[in-house]
Amino acid sequence: MTTGEKTTRPEGGPAPPPFAHPSEAEFARILDFYGVRWLYEPHSFPIRWEGGEVVEMFTPDFYLPDLDLYIELTTMKQSLVREKNRKIRLLRTLYPHIKVKLLYRKDYHRLLARYGFGPLASIDSPGLDRVLLSAEAIRKRVHELGHQISQDYQGKEPVLVGVLRGVLCFMADLLRSITLPVSVDFMSISPFGQGEGVRITKDLDLDIRGKDVLLVEDIVDTGMTLHFLLRYLETRGPASLRVCALLDKRVRRIAEVPLHYVGFEVPDEFLVGYGLDYREKYRNLPFIGVLKTQV
Ligand code: PRP
Repeated sequence: MTTGEKTTRPEGGPAPPPFAHPSEAEFARILDFYGVRWLYEPHSFPIRWEGGEVVEMFTPDFYLPDLDLYIELTTMKQSLVREKNRKIRLLRTLYPHIKVKLLYRKDYHRLLARYGFGPLASIDSPGLDRVLLSAEAIRKRVHELGHQISQDYQGKEPVLVGVLRGVLCFMADLLRSITLPVSVDFMSISPFGQGEGVRITKDLDLDIRGKDVLLVEDIVDTGMTLHFLLRYLETRGPASLRVCALLDKRVRRIAEVPLHYVGFEVPDEFLVGYGLDYREKYRNLPFIGVLKTQV
């Protein structure tokens, strides 16, 4: 049984945490990269009692204090997951104020593949399974978003800040759907695996102090990119800061980030096209498609 804070992120401290599984170490590396603080198995929750005695505890793998979120990684076979589901259900019932997210093996492998490792990372370009959002559906929705933004920012001159590179098609179309005077700038951050932590590789050229800033993203997945960028942009003193995302992959969210304008909520599949890539391919498709692979 583990109670209290057993292990914390080692910052020049003693031995690294004794992860029970390599996948946990990989997950910790991703969190470290995005500057999301974590604790490994810091709390055990009693979930079953017999005659006043605690007979069963549940210890989620991670706690992310900044996000007030527990994460449980389920790397075992789907057939063995039932027992873990039972524990999570009990935890949620007994401690409704606790936020806990369960990542199944399949979800987790897809997540790892995004960062270039794990068993799915080496699959070759597999071709498309189907069209998820047609060019016409995107055009219509982007136009609606532009109309809504134009109404909400009436009398203002917002600065649209795009996050390179996936945003390029969306930004170009959204911009032309907005009927206000706007300015545009771009930012870019280093991909996972390059260096110790996330870095800004292309900063703003414009001064956004006192400006109404709309951060524009093609897709929000774990939310960690936005979590990082919003904190950074706040330090630049904008009058207001909102987010417009074409695609919201809610089911994969780890960092809760405020999305003020969303084009489409999308399922947890590998999406390409209209700026989104798979190993730099497919960005030039005019529609958004689903890759054939199980990635
Ligand atoms: C995509 C997208 C977002 C980020 C969202 O960029 O453009 O910036 O992922 O993911 P998150 O919510 O899990 O942080 P990607 O890293 O694929 O780079 P790209 O824009 O150059 O394609």
